Amino acid sequence: MMRTLAAALLAICIAGPAMADADASIKYRKNAMKAVGSQMGSIVAILKGEVDNKDALATHAALMGAATKMAITKPAFMPNTDGQGSEKTTAIGAIWSDWAKFEEGLMALEKAGQAMADAGANASFDQVKALGAACKSCHKAFRVKK
Ligand code: HEC
Repeated sequence: MMRTLAAALLAICIAGPAMADADASIKYRKNAMKAVGSQMGSIVAILKGEVDNKDALATHAALMGAATKMAITKPAFMPNTDGQGSEKTTAIGAIWSDWAKFEEGLMALEKAGQAMADAGANASFDQVKALGAACKSCHKAFRVKK
């Protein structure tokens, strides 16, 4: 009886922090993605003329360049949280079982983000399309199908 209790307590001690870590990792990477999505939304709104913020385009382009850097995205996605934590996630296990392919997707994202940053005030739908292609191919392969 005591041994069972001790084993159960030990299991809670081990599982507790591990689960908290998984949730923190999931939240962190979702925030990293939201930063990318947020700049995409802002840039498209400006290019479509839905908002009169043309002067901010170069700054949004620079933020997109920063948000897509592998210095952020790679460590954000590296922790394998498959089947762990209670935080909602659409990431699938293939990210970690096929990490090389996933990392190629992150490289493509960084490249397209850099092209946006380089275009700056002259950013156009050309850069948006290139970025969009990078988002789409990775989301298709590595997120829960809608
Ligand atoms: C290399 C793969 C990859 C690329 C490239 C990528 N994403 Fe993602 N993205 C993911 C994965 C995986 C998730 C799911 C994360 C989760 O739910 O834990 C995600 C989730 C998101 C989310 C939802 C975040 C949330 O709060 O749940 C947004 C928004 C998003 N991505 C935007 C983008 C945009 C915009 C681009 C392109 C400019 C992009 N992503 C490129 C892999 C990628």
